[in-house]
Amino acid sequence: MTIASVILAAGLGKRMHSSLPKALHPLLGKPIVFHALDAVLPQVDLPPVLVTGYGGERVREEVARAYGERVSFALQAEQLGTGHAVRSAEDQLRGKADILLVTFGDMPMLRSETLRRLIQIHHETGSTITMTSVIGDLPRGFGRVVRSADGKVRAIVEEAVATPEQLKIREYNISAYCFDAEWMWQSLAELKPSPKGEFYITDLVELAISQGKGVESMVLEDAAEGLGINNRVDLADCERAMRARVNRQWMLAGVSFLDPDTITVEMDVTIGQDTVLYPNTYLRGKTSIGENCAIGPDTTLLHTSVGDYSVIQYSVAEKATIGSHVSMGPFCHLRGGAILQDYVHLGNFGEVKDSTLGEHTKMGHFSYIGNATIGRDVNIGAGTITCNYDGKTKHPTEIGDETFIGSDTMLVAPLKIGKRAKTGAGAVVTHDVPDDTLVVGVPARPKERKDHCD
Ligand code: UD1
Ligand code: CA
Repeated sequence: MTIASVILAAGLGKRMHSSLPKALHPLLGKPIVFHALDAVLPQVDLPPVLVTGYGGERVREEVARAYGERVSFALQAEQLGTGHAVRSAEDQLRGKADILLVTFGDMPMLRSETLRRLIQIHHETGSTITMTSVIGDLPRGFGRVVRSADGKVRAIVEEAVATPEQLKIREYNISAYCFDAEWMWQSLAELKPSPKGEFYITDLVELAISQGKGVESMVLEDAAEGLGINNRVDLADCERAMRARVNRQWMLAGVSFLDPDTITVEMDVTIGQDTVLYPNTYLRGKTSIGENCAIGPDTTLLHTSVGDYSVIQYSVAEKATIGSHVSMGPFCHLRGGAILQDYVHLGNFGEVKDSTLGEHTKMGHFSYIGNATIGRDVNIGAGTITCNYDGKTKHPTEIGDETFIGSDTMLVAPLKIGKRAKTGAGAVVTHDVPDDTLVVGVPARPKERKDHCD
């Protein structure tokens, strides 16, 4: 039994009122259509065919960049409805598979596990169509599942053409289907246009019934899986539901969340056991957090890794590497290439970019460190600045182990400061400083008594 799949994403997405195709709007940090692809991919034998149209190049580019050969594409040049859209994949798929799984690119909450069960039910019941529905109160716009008195599915009726009686039905079509592939390719050609001139995939249900074919429906327990995205209100609802789903998984895996509604953890993030996340924390991209950390409140980490037992509050880090037992914040900013080794302490208002701070180094107050390599056990006094940019080029600064940088020191790069050196308060250091040497003044010069500094 071979399973192929089609994912529809060619619609105009007009209701988003956006220049960005609907498929590419981010949901929990990832384009909507990626969620749909991730659910389908593990369940199928052939690369899913993504049907695109409006803004198609952009969608295809983004998907190809992320998924490469694992996904293929079909073009629906004119948007003549969901049934018409599936036909765009016919040349690629007809004769290649027994079962065709069809899902919609704008239904990102469907789980892969649900699709697995759908395929299983389809297989076990030998149906021609197996569809999915949820029972509950969904926002407007969903097709209603019409059943006969004996409970059997009769048809899916679109909201626009439903009778007042049918509009009262609370079972909604959520557009994940399994079809007997050959039957479907034949039957798509028989679909009649809707009053709007569109060909609806939903009409296949009535067609199958009229031919005496078996139609099964799988009713999903978790109504959140039925949330789809037609407009930005739906997008916000999905974001909330997806956030709750991800947060719940981490809580069950041993991570504490204080006020989870305010905490966002994107899909590719990993978090170790006994870490506590405080309100308004955003863990984004490929961020990884070790065990026993305390992150937040009001902290954003993007593509950043953190070791174990680190405490980060009221801070922002992007593409940074933070070791274990680090304490950071409030109000620190780590930018690309910042590396804080174990036991580093960053107090308030520190910015670090493209620099390494060695173990046990302390930078307590108001400093900027850029393009620098700083050893271990260094004390960086309040207000220290690496003057790394001369208006044209960035220059490096090197600071040896156990060095003491006095308050308000300006380190004019390129510059090397030796081990156990000291700079006096307010020094403007323009020349390299040897090991065990104290420099003071503007510009800074060596002073004999190296113990006299502050
Ligand atoms: C559709 C279903 C409805 C279901 C709802 C939510 C139909 C006719 N209606 O309505 O029963 O309750 O989804 O699952 O199927 N698309 C194309 N080409 C087209 C038209 C649409 O690729 O010509 C794509 C869209 O990009 C989108 C999906 O198909 O991903 C659904 O289209 P949309 O217009 O949003 O359908 P709904 O009104 O939501
Ligand atoms: Ca839709």
